[in-house]
Amino acid sequence: MTDRPITTTDAGIPAPSDEFSLSVGPNGPLLMQDHYLIQKMAHFNRERVPERVVHAKGGGAYGVLRITEDVSQYTKASLFQKGKETELILRFSTVAGELGSADTVRDPRGFAIKFYTEDGNYDIVGNNTPIFFIRDPSKFSDFIHSQKRRADTHTRDHNMQWDFWTLSPESAHQVSFLMTDRGTPRSWRHMHGFGSHTFLWYNAAGEKFWVKYHFKTEQGVENFTDAEAKALVAEDPDFHLRDLHTAIRNGDHPAWTVNVQIMPFEDAADYRFNPFDLTKVWPHSDYPEITIGRFVLNRNPENYFAEVEQAGFEPANLVPGVGPSPDRMLQGRLLSYPDAHRYRIGPNYLQLPVNAPKVPVHSYNRDGHMRYRNPGDPVYAPNSVNGPAADPSLYEGENYQITGEIIRSAYVRHREDDDYVQPRALWENVLSDVDRDHMVGNIVGHASAPEVTADMKKRVADYWTNVHKDLGQRVAQGLGVA
Ligand code: NDP
Ligand code: HEM
Repeated sequence: MTDRPITTTDAGIPAPSDEFSLSVGPNGPLLMQDHYLIQKMAHFNRERVPERVVHAKGGGAYGVLRITEDVSQYTKASLFQKGKETELILRFSTVAGELGSADTVRDPRGFAIKFYTEDGNYDIVGNNTPIFFIRDPSKFSDFIHSQKRRADTHTRDHNMQWDFWTLSPESAHQVSFLMTDRGTPRSWRHMHGFGSHTFLWYNAAGEKFWVKYHFKTEQGVENFTDAEAKALVAEDPDFHLRDLHTAIRNGDHPAWTVNVQIMPFEDAADYRFNPFDLTKVWPHSDYPEITIGRFVLNRNPENYFAEVEQAGFEPANLVPGVGPSPDRMLQGRLLSYPDAHRYRIGPNYLQLPVNAPKVPVHSYNRDGHMRYRNPGDPVYAPNSVNGPAADPSLYEGENYQITGEIIRSAYVRHREDDDYVQPRALWENVLSDVDRDHMVGNIVGHASAPEVTADMKKRVADYWTNVHKDLGQRVAQGLGVA
């Protein structure tokens, strides 16, 4: 007798063989009655769930958030109270590539956190940049299509990417970040994360604030040059996945400091920039970052498919003390993610261990594919038989007044709103000479792909001239256009 377990079918019945199908004699055909063979083959055909339509390649780890400062004057959210510790899972990703694509390509990186709070799950589904390419969700699928593959050749196409970007000047700030070496981070551990959107915070007295989240890497920002990143695409396509797993396994637990920028509610109306425009940051001189805590990643998942591939993050998971802002992109995302999960994972995705909250669920939703915890009676609300009852007082403070005409238009312009002013500040005041040299080289390299037409190269140079004359000139020179 060995202490090895006996192979079974998924129904727990001892399997007849690990090697041989049931046949009519050693050389004869196979039999329908080989239930074990049929189960193996049928299940194999169903192993994949659809990959995420964006952010398909990634990896994640568990950790814990600890709040070190008192911010109860800004929010009553239980997870942000001083001394509070909250478990979390963080998934990092690239955006455009498919599930098997390489980690080190030039792309923004996803930075999605699920906090398992005492008030249910709170998800901050951000990136490693504080801004984004567009400001209206109706352009999101078009933007992503331009980053993915052509319909005819099924290849990615830099001409198509620059076509979209140069026709969408609001992209200039994010494309600037992308074309610096921050577009090719050394590892997931060596990059910041951002909530990116503006969110609403409200305190126990009902006072409201606008907030932005900054997660600053305690490992320091480190990036690859374009050449280093490209070399690793060939050498180890799973470089970032392997790096995170190895570091955590070796006890080298990466950490991020949690900072916020706080804007009093009333400032939003006439702030010099539209504070809800996702293509803009709030300059630190106006709203400095305040440290409120830190989180550490300290545990690897044990099963990638169960815990990472099936993880579903959703910006709509907000807890009392936190609300959405009118940022149009955020509003679009509130719908998009749970919709994606119902399609990709199934309607009861919130019952999978990685997605399930760590608090009791008293929802009146029931049934559906693969549901295994189901509420009993009563099956409706309101009821007079002591079923769960909502407590609207938990959300007091979230309300605010908005009126207006139903309209399709750009945001109302704030005094200094302009698509180029903030990327120009990045180029002029933040980047070092070396950063600038690399940014020019990265742009020129990207726009020199064979499919990029001469006309497009001129448009690329114009786009960067709008950001800064010197940058435009250097790009034009590199691309050989007048
Ligand atoms: P500050 O000088 O106060 O802040 C500059 C910010 O840029 C810091 O957060 C810095 O932090 C970050 N930074 C440094 N090097 C780079 C780089 N190579 N790529 C991207 N970011 C970098 O100026 P302002 O707040 O007035 O912002 C000026 C410009 O800085 C903005 O227009 C924006 O482009 C950029 N920026 C601003 C941020 C904000 O929230 N205000 C956040 C990130 C960038 P660190 O080195 O730790 O990343
Ligand atoms: C993933 C839609 C903008 C960050 C996804 C997914 C969809 C989506 C459908 C796949 C979800 C899944 O299958 O699990 C959208 C739409 C957007 C938008 C419609 C704009 C209107 C943004 C922005 C950010 C962002 C602005 C960051 C600030 C992410 C991240 C993931 C993701 C990090 C991966 C989450 C994970 O790790 O599972 N997005 N997105 N997205 N998106 Fe967006």
